[in-house]
Amino acid sequence: MNIVLIGFMGAGKTTIGRKTAARLGYWFVDMDYQIERSQNARVTEIFEKHGQQYFRALETKLLKQLTKVENTVVATGGGVLTTEGNLALINQIGTSVYLNASVEMLFERATRTDKRPLLRTENPFQTMSELFEKRKHLYQQADITITTEELKLHFVINEMIRQL
Ligand code: S3P
Repeated sequence: MNIVLIGFMGAGKTTIGRKTAARLGYWFVDMDYQIERSQNARVTEIFEKHGQQYFRALETKLLKQLTKVENTVVATGGGVLTTEGNLALINQIGTSVYLNASVEMLFERATRTDKRPLLRTENPFQTMSELFEKRKHLYQQADITITTEELKLHFVINEMIRQL
């Protein structure tokens, strides 16, 4: 069985994914990290050098490879569902879990580092709110939704495992 974590930037997909995998004795794959390794470049650099479309193509290519994994937790990037066809691939991989929180909370977490190329705008909060509004119907297609608002990791992970 596999678990695919989806949700906006700052939802905690990587942290929760890694801990859930450890708890279940599963493998853990972080898509952004995997793409960075395959390109030998950071996500921000890939966006700068090649543009967003190029990055999206890499995501789809990786998802196709991930349809072959077993006993794995996958943390996706926040924009993975903006590419048509990726949801079908995710469904093929395993159970999708939407990690949800308020925009304020997501913003606070997502801007702790400068790793998010899409938030390099004049008004990152507005950018983020607009993007979240546009995308939330995509995330809502997940099999399971878990709120991470308070991010009590144990609670979030227990609740997710209970609902699987
Ligand atoms: C993106 C989210 C990022 C990363 C890239 C694009 C997005 O992943 O894939 O910067 O479009 O929302 P995180 O959700 O891990 O920040």
